[in-house]
Amino acid sequence: MGKIKQVVGREILDSRGYPTIEVDITLESGHKGRMMVPSGASTGKFEAWELRDQDPSRFRGKGVSKAVAHVNHEIAKAVTGLDAADHERIDRTLIELDGTKNKSRLGANAILGVSFAAAHAEASERGLPLYQYLADRFGDLNAQPSLPLPMVNIISGGLHAGKNIDIQDFLIMPVGAKSYPEALQMISDVYFKTQEILAAKGYQSRLLADEGGFGPHLTSNEEALDILCESVQSAGYKRKDEVAFALDVASSHFYDESSGTYRLGADKQELTSEQMIEKLENWVEKYPILSIEDGLAEEDWAGWTRLTERLGDKVQLVGDDLFTTNPQRIQKGIALKAGNAVLVKMNQIGSLTETVTAVKLAKEAGLLTVISARSGETEDCTLADLAVGLNGGQIKIGSIAGSSRTAKYNQLWRIHHELNGRFTGKRAFHGRFHQ
Ligand code: PGA
Ligand code: ZN
Repeated sequence: MGKIKQVVGREILDSRGYPTIEVDITLESGHKGRMMVPSGASTGKFEAWELRDQDPSRFRGKGVSKAVAHVNHEIAKAVTGLDAADHERIDRTLIELDGTKNKSRLGANAILGVSFAAAHAEASERGLPLYQYLADRFGDLNAQPSLPLPMVNIISGGLHAGKNIDIQDFLIMPVGAKSYPEALQMISDVYFKTQEILAAKGYQSRLLADEGGFGPHLTSNEEALDILCESVQSAGYKRKDEVAFALDVASSHFYDESSGTYRLGADKQELTSEQMIEKLENWVEKYPILSIEDGLAEEDWAGWTRLTERLGDKVQLVGDDLFTTNPQRIQKGIALKAGNAVLVKMNQIGSLTETVTAVKLAKEAGLLTVISARSGETEDCTLADLAVGLNGGQIKIGSIAGSSRTAKYNQLWRIHHELNGRFTGKRAFHGRFHQ
């Protein structure tokens, strides 16, 4: 129950070398909280607005000095004196002060930084780790906080790797792991096998994409799946039972709105929504795929409903660009039976309480949740605590390379010790999809 005494924003660099916002909040007691704000590249149309300066003379137009100024002046004035524990009031104040639907006046980056820095400060005031504070305030009443099952990027394509292939992420889920450290071991085994296999095939295996995965110029999307099959097998794991695959198709980014078709450059195909569904069905038949994110585009609601009818009891169908962590869009998805899982990215909606609302709404409707990082990240670990505190079930951080990614994997490893190893593992799927 600490009163906010000071709010300070500043520019820092993210993992891509572009500016982002860091916010420090100090309470009257002297306790402090800090939040560093992430940033996406393959963003959904319906995301809250990330305010950038657009001044080409600084950081290629990507400076965030205007958003920082909003934190230091208007926002600081409005939230100073508020109770840092009253997250509803803080977020409401920020949203009303902004006055737009998508947080575009003050910037969702400014608002998110303040919203979460307050939670950090209050957790410190109470002497609690953030995950415990979030669990106490917003967590499941009848479940103790537990470590999420990681969904881990191994091969990258799309906007995260210079559009080498169309599918954005080829990921693995160590569903056979009994503990978080065992999950990390399995991921590491597959990661390094993939590096060896890529090198043996003559691909560039030392250059990493935005999320730390390998970004080779493969000849087709399927080649990535074939390589992953080989890596999992030669790492000594059973495909599907021990290591399952996940895809982030990010199809909004190769969907052509005027013709209503999906244009897969690497496969030299132009597909209708129905044909895209068939392609995904074929991949699910052929490969040990357990999860598909954004298999169809963010506005192809009818396609999403058909996709869910066809594949929804076999695999997890995650809406990222589709839902943009927006309760209204999640509600629409529930009504249309579009998708069976929500990707939760706090900066897509732009505040702590709205993120919590999205997670609760999803869970109450029986949708699974994956708490996710952005492709532009920092050493901030809030994501790890959020996934544990809200019992998100699954977490998507990127690969195990680059300290913006390992910061979060390592924070989970610390929490593993504090929770005496409590790990959700494949229980994240509640027995669905034969898991
Ligand atoms: P982004 O990508 O952070 O660049 O939007 C992540 C994702 O699509 O899941
Ligand atoms: Zn995505």
